Amino acid sequence: MSGTMKSLAHCRWECKYPVVFIPKSRRKASYGEVRQMLGEIFHEPARQGIPSLIPTITGTCSIADNRLLRKELIMPGRLAGKVALVSGGASGIGAAHVRIFAVEGAKVIAGDIQEEMGKAVVGEVRRGGGEATFVRLDVSKESDWAHAVREAVSRYGKLTTLINNAGIYWPQGIEAETLEKWNKMIAVNQTGVWLGMKAAVPEMRRAGGGAIVNISSLYGIIGSPSSISYHASKGAVRIMSKAAALEYARQGIRVNSIHPGQIETPILAGLTPEQNEQIKAATPVGRMGKPEEIAYGSLYLCSDEAAYTTGIELIIDGGWSAQ
Ligand SMILES: NC(=O)c1ccc[n+]([C@@H]2O[C@H](COP(=O)([O-])OP(=O)(O)OC[C@H]3O[C@@H](n4cnc5c(N)ncnc54)[C@H](O)[C@@H]3O)[C@@H](O)[C@H]2O)c1
Repeated sequence: MSGTMKSLAHCRWECKYPVVFIPKSRRKASYGEVRQMLGEIFHEPARQGIPSLIPTITGTCSIADNRLLRKELIMPGRLAGKVALVSGGASGIGAAHVRIFAVEGAKVIAGDIQEEMGKAVVGEVRRGGGEATFVRLDVSKESDWAHAVREAVSRYGKLTTLINNAGIYWPQGIEAETLEKWNKMIAVNQTGVWLGMKAAVPEMRRAGGGAIVNISSLYGIIGSPSSISYHASKGAVRIMSKAAALEYARQGIRVNSIHPGQIETPILAGLTPEQNEQIKAATPVGRMGKPEEIAYGSLYLCSDEAAYTTGIELIIDGGWSAQ
């Protein structure tokens, strides 16, 4: 068995898609032995945000052990039984949610205005053995939200989880900002979050409860000398989340906000290399965050592990706000 373990450990770091496990010895591996190895390959890809889900097991294993293993494989996820709608699921933090939530057993609807990218993320999840569907969703349109929620329910039977993640950003001070751009920022980042909750809550109630995570920003808590409309929209997301948490606390629907610091995604594409370096130098951990590091925060908040957690603001910023 140690030979097998060795080859599997080697494979673990390289595999992206279904793992083929071929025991070198022809003897039967016990359930415990195979489960231990599966545990390693199962959880490692999840930690890396790789949508590798279902290892293919070939080799010798008794039928009884096989049945036990199959049972394990069907219920490995922290979000098993959940149906999640992720807005802005085509890119960055939203796409990381789609991948990781699928790895953890959720059925995922990814909504976005970027159709090609959204379909690519969903295709990747499906090829890895997960369950995900793309819908076109402009979060500032109430009718799009109704369609996305309908799609979740008709395809997967219910809606239990909402990640209000879609967002836009540009740096603009008070005098430079235009009314037109201000209205756009508010329509997507703020009104879009309210519309999402409004559309999703009735289905969550029907499902017997649910969890909502609204992706705000560190800029929803602290100020900066630019980005007035972004601050306004993200500050609103923070306080709307607390209001919603109180409104639905007795109905089994939990609402929390996450406040990312600087995360490496296309939304920051406008930064110069010098600005990137300045951000890294000013961040206590010495680097920018990864989209997965936000999605893992949501994973906790959307799982049943967080049953007593509502109305909180989870800051994930590499220590920035501790300074
Ligand atoms: N990256 C960061 O540093 C950072 C920091 C704090 C907060 N955030 C927040 O995280 C969220 C995700 O951003 P990201 O960093 O992954 O950026 P991103 O640009 O990679 O992703 C944003 C996604 O939202 C989608 N989107 C934009 N307008 C939309 C609309 N009207 N309807 C539906 N989808 C729309 C985009 O198409 C895109 O796929 C945003 O709300 C953002 O404000 C990001």
